Amino acid sequence: MLVLTALLAALLGDLAVVAQDSDYGSSPPVYPSPQTQGIGWEAAFARAEAFVANLTLEEKAQLVTGTSGPCVGNIGAIPRLGFDGLCLQDGPLAIRQATYASVFPAGLTAAASWDKSLMYLRGLYMGAEFKGKGSHIALGPVVGPLGRTAYGGRNWEGFSPDPYLTGVAVGETITGMQQGGVQACLKHYIGNEQETQRNPSLSPDNVTIESFSANIDDRTMHELYLWPFANGVKAGVSSIMCSYNRLNGSYACQNSKSQNGLLKEELGFQGYIMSDWGGTRSGLASINAGLDMTMPGMHFFFSGDSTASLFGGNITTAVNNGSLSETRVDDMILRILTPYFFLQQDEYPPIDGEEPTLNSRFPPYKYQFNLGASNVDVRDGHGQLIRDLGSAGTVLLKNVDNTLPLKAPTSIGVFGNDAGDVVDGLYSLGGAFGNSDGYEYGTLAVAGGSGTGRLSYLVSPLEAIKTRAAQDGTLVQYVLNNTLLSQPSTLAGVLPVPQVCLVFLKTWASEGADRAGLEADWNSTAVVTSVASYCNNTVVVTHSAGINVLPWADHPNVTAILAAHLPGQESGNSIVDILYGVVNPSGKLPYTIAHNESDYDFAPLLNSTALLETEDPNAWQWNFTEGLLIDYRHFDYENQSVAFEFGFGLSYTTFSMSGIAVQQQGASGAGGGGGPYSSNNNTTVIGATPPPPPSPGKVPPGGNPALWETLYTVTVTVTNTGGVAGAAVPQLYVSLPQVPDAEGHPTPVNVLRGFEKVLLQPGESQTVEFDLARRDLSYWDTNTQQWTIPEGSIGLNAGFSSRDFRQRTQVNVVSGW
Ligand code: NOJ
Repeated sequence: MLVLTALLAALLGDLAVVAQDSDYGSSPPVYPSPQTQGIGWEAAFARAEAFVANLTLEEKAQLVTGTSGPCVGNIGAIPRLGFDGLCLQDGPLAIRQATYASVFPAGLTAAASWDKSLMYLRGLYMGAEFKGKGSHIALGPVVGPLGRTAYGGRNWEGFSPDPYLTGVAVGETITGMQQGGVQACLKHYIGNEQETQRNPSLSPDNVTIESFSANIDDRTMHELYLWPFANGVKAGVSSIMCSYNRLNGSYACQNSKSQNGLLKEELGFQGYIMSDWGGTRSGLASINAGLDMTMPGMHFFFSGDSTASLFGGNITTAVNNGSLSETRVDDMILRILTPYFFLQQDEYPPIDGEEPTLNSRFPPYKYQFNLGASNVDVRDGHGQLIRDLGSAGTVLLKNVDNTLPLKAPTSIGVFGNDAGDVVDGLYSLGGAFGNSDGYEYGTLAVAGGSGTGRLSYLVSPLEAIKTRAAQDGTLVQYVLNNTLLSQPSTLAGVLPVPQVCLVFLKTWASEGADRAGLEADWNSTAVVTSVASYCNNTVVVTHSAGINVLPWADHPNVTAILAAHLPGQESGNSIVDILYGVVNPSGKLPYTIAHNESDYDFAPLLNSTALLETEDPNAWQWNFTEGLLIDYRHFDYENQSVAFEFGFGLSYTTFSMSGIAVQQQGASGAGGGGGPYSSNNNTTVIGATPPPPPSPGKVPPGGNPALWETLYTVTVTVTNTGGVAGAAVPQLYVSLPQVPDAEGHPTPVNVLRGFEKVLLQPGESQTVEFDLARRDLSYWDTNTQQWTIPEGSIGLNAGFSSRDFRQRTQVNVVSGW
């Protein structure tokens, strides 16, 4: 019966969607599921092939079906073949539940650092910690949500709504993690841009209401949402997690277009796709649509049977009765075991013995797991990198008359419920899932849900400020109760009036819920206004799981603002290093801060009373009609003033930029070869479309290699013109001409296509190079299904933010074939 249902779904699932072609976005069927050749992992692939040859059909089903065990996700062992099973653990910034492990800065913070080497090291150290705990697969990093809406509850787990910045960040992260020894699992694929109705619900009349459908047109898919996944695949990511939501009408884990078509065919993904937990909605249909592993293995939404699996025994039945080809099952296993052998996980540390206690969701276990000593300390001095990255991801937004850095003040006031130590424990603060405001007292180092981490220690801002202030004999007074602080009379007791008042604000977010507003939580505006009316030198620090609007930013007594994001366990030390100038701020906004919350209306959450009460299973349709125009692309296209633009961030020094130059490189498809750029009007002849990709089955990870070849190198010289050493972040934006678009979507005015972080001593200059690959200069042509360089003038704008261009040039690309 089960198999029959699945078979029907396989036959009808995608066809039903094609029939509704009036829908926004479409999911044409793409079958069969492409087979991996282990490209890039050849020796490991051969080992996996040999391994598969020894498996019984039951063992094959076991290898693709999650089971109960000590980890968040588990694959059972096969002792006769020396296979110990697989341990999958959350998440993107820590081994979520583990003891004696580090809590790193969030993806958002890493993005705000704009520092590729710190992004890489964060990945490397996280990878080493997962390995030390015997976890084979880390369920991170996150690039979905990308951050279409500022209200998204999980945006902070990922990096930035800019796909280029996110793409670079995720490439560095995955490279680091896998060099650390763990398999990365890039998630959530794709269109999981909100938490509300990510999973089906039951209507008042008990009708199953389906998850929202992210309806995304082909061009927007390629240029925005798929873009960072391409970087992840190019970096050799082992696995990808399909998301809960529907995409263009089909559930993401059974969407053949996105899984077979985009990921495995177009991007040449050689690894495996696993479901999000409970995200598998069918057996055979999902397998044929490209899903390779179901997690946690057993589940039916709204069914009482928590042990039933859509895979497992149904796979053996389906193979035996001829409805599923064993070759496809073998391909699933090859995809799973090739990265396992590539990373030499057949010789791996045992699972930390404490894990069964930390994750006791599904005992008793069906299989034996290889458990080792308990509470292994894997932190290995990673606190220093965490401290450095916490500072590097802090953005200085305002600094009137050099308020910062502090210069041995005689007295400091510390205010706000984000300043002190936590009082609700070190794990699952504020309730693990949902809770809109989190916990009241204590600094926010990390947000909630499966992307959180168990803190083994936490340095609060107040603690670090007290320690540092003691060196200068500075008086430190503090009030941490926001309810009291929002009443100005409270401050009358703070005497003498501090020379500088530091206000710490926080903004909670968590998996399972979206944000209700964009101001910081807990009466933040009243708190700032109250402190600023008492203290004419008020410095505001935000610890936030995403974008905050700052209604008080222009208050004359607010003399400095720092967006400190989610810094992880060294929070207090990271911020003190910035406040006292031990570290010169060099973080830049990885998103736009608009003047008002209503300015973000272009990409609202999908949520309404009508939807919440609907009896229509298909009611939740979310059309991504703004196309490419999210975040700064929207504000730039509308020529709208913003409070602080994408890429912006101040320093304690100043920088200049000069001497932009362009050099054409000798990539294939670039007419005229390489050499210094010599033409008078910067006109070059380059094939508008890349040389064709390798034939199906031969496409390497990342897709057509020609898309990654450098066509031009742009150089600028950056100089530190101020009095102290500091790091600049020169940025390159590309301005493509408008092109015909099936949905009528405009091309963004400017898109980020290069950045570097350079440390400069006072007076020092450095020349910075930005390599522009073919993909960077192309749009996705939906007619030809090709990345295409538009004809006409392409603007190249270099500067220090998306609205602070210092050097401009252009190239005119003429189609040469
Ligand atoms: C569901 C979340 O969406 C996913 O990110 C996480 O890895 C799994 N739960 C396992 O905790």
